[in-house]
Amino acid sequence: MDHVKAEEYIEGIKRLRTEKNAIILAHYYQTGDIQDIADFVGDSLALSQKAASNNADIILFAGVKFMAETAKILAPGKKVLLPDLNAGCSLADSCKAEDFKKFIDDNPGRTVVTYVNTTAEIKALSDIICTSSNAVQIVESLPVDEKIIFAPDRNLGNYVLNKTGRDIIIWNGACHVHEEFSLEAILKIKKEHPESKLIVHPECELPIRMVSDFIGSTSALLLYSKKDDARTYIIATEAGIIHQMQKENPDKLFIPAPPKDSTCGCSECNFMKLITLEKIYNCLKSESPEITLDEDIILKAKKPILRMMEISKKLGL
Ligand code: 13P
Ligand code: SF4
Repeated sequence: MDHVKAEEYIEGIKRLRTEKNAIILAHYYQTGDIQDIADFVGDSLALSQKAASNNADIILFAGVKFMAETAKILAPGKKVLLPDLNAGCSLADSCKAEDFKKFIDDNPGRTVVTYVNTTAEIKALSDIICTSSNAVQIVESLPVDEKIIFAPDRNLGNYVLNKTGRDIIIWNGACHVHEEFSLEAILKIKKEHPESKLIVHPECELPIRMVSDFIGSTSALLLYSKKDDARTYIIATEAGIIHQMQKENPDKLFIPAPPKDSTCGCSECNFMKLITLEKIYNCLKSESPEITLDEDIILKAKKPILRMMEISKKLGL
């Protein structure tokens, strides 16, 4: 998009946001221009917390559908807008409600801990939700002998299992971005920059996590890159986070971890990148597309999300 057009959309968004008392919540995986215009930028947990407590009439979610649905569940009285309803999530898609219900029925007596990257229907089938910021602590908050189902991410599940040693069976789902990083290409960069630190999201595969210097959610990676004293970092999560890292640490070098398929460019979530300034402007103007959910699903899905938020609050997360 040319610069003049972008400026026009930004001015329009600012005007409409004030006129309509709207708030723009953006995930770290959005493009830099969207992060810069947002009222609040955060990871999944922080965005849920913000959605649950704000004075706006409209929440425009610059992120993917499961995030906007979580905002609607937490703030059902507000209008929640998502500029492109095709902004889904390969991880959420890897867990369909019908199959998951059967999985729960086939494994009775287990507490169902579900990652926030799921549809509202899956949340409604769950006992407690977690995000990558609090997954380990949420599982640790359960009694030691409690048997657990963890869904849908097999890598995060494996990470939580290794950290907690709990009795956990894991749903076999994955994210197309975080499973795409190439260990070989990462080790090559590491060789070229021996002083660099490799920091990775827990949705990455075990071999990548094993050679990493730090594992954490997007906000934990951001904080680490700020507090740590290295000058160069290899970032194994969606490359959008580098915008904030670079803003907060202008003197440091951030290198996106390369994907296995070197022809597909740097590691971006094609769902997150469906959101653009133009779509945000049109969405605010027309107040559509809007997220709508059945009352019954909202009630059932809210319970496990609130349970997570209470524990997070208690632990100061
Ligand atoms: P965070 O919980 O770190 O925000 O991650 C969300 C996500 O979609 C990871 O792919
Ligand atoms: Fe889903 Fe992966 Fe995109 Fe995150 S990066 S929204 S888990 S597809």
